Amino acid sequence: MGKKRRVEFEMVSGSVEDTQALGEQLGRALRPGDVVALQGELGSGKTTLIQGIARGLGREPEAIRSPTFVLMREYPPGPPIAGGGAGGDVPLIHIDGYRLEGQSAVSWLDVDLIFSPHKITLIEWAERFTGVLPEDVLNIQLTHVSTNRRRLTLQSTGPRSQAMLAALQSATVHADARH
Ligand SMILES: Nc1ncnc2c1ncn2[C@@H]1O[C@H](COP(=O)(O)OP(=O)(O)OP(=O)(O)O)[C@@H](O)[C@H]1O
Ligand SMILES: [Mg+2]
Repeated sequence: MGKKRRVEFEMVSGSVEDTQALGEQLGRALRPGDVVALQGELGSGKTTLIQGIARGLGREPEAIRSPTFVLMREYPPGPPIAGGGAGGDVPLIHIDGYRLEGQSAVSWLDVDLIFSPHKITLIEWAERFTGVLPEDVLNIQLTHVSTNRRRLTLQSTGPRSQAMLAALQSATVHADARH
């Protein structure tokens, strides 16, 4: 852990709907160029959270599946849906590093294409992209608590991700939040 001040937000989700609701709030807070890096074991809810984020960005969540075999998928903007945030017409990139093994596999990635200031990028298995991710990303760690409960820990790493958390926290006044 560095000495740099990090802002944290933690919640325990009791259902798929809870996780998606948090994602939706976060999706509304995202802006072009934002990167969200998700870490957590199989079935911890990364894709579920991304479905909520997609909804907050004005996309149909049903369209979102883990791109397990293709590494990366780009979702075109759909017709605006109620409650969609500022990201509605921003290209959404979904990356899943599940099948990436070793640093050599990561090195062929076209980082400039993926981390565009004009797109929003969401990454599953972000721990497999060490050294490739931008400095300022919103880290989200998901862990199993029980069958239907997941702990989500959100951590900023710079001003951009701090702004994401600030926007999220001001929207989730009822959530169990702490600094
Ligand atoms: N509170 C919860 N939040 C999210 N998912 C939950 C929760 N409770 C139970 N689940 C279940 O956990 C699973 C989460 O699956 P999901 O595909 O989102 O995980 P993942 O982290 O993307 O896994 P993978 O590493 O395989 O991509 C689903 O089957 C979902 O129904
Ligand atoms: Mg997944």
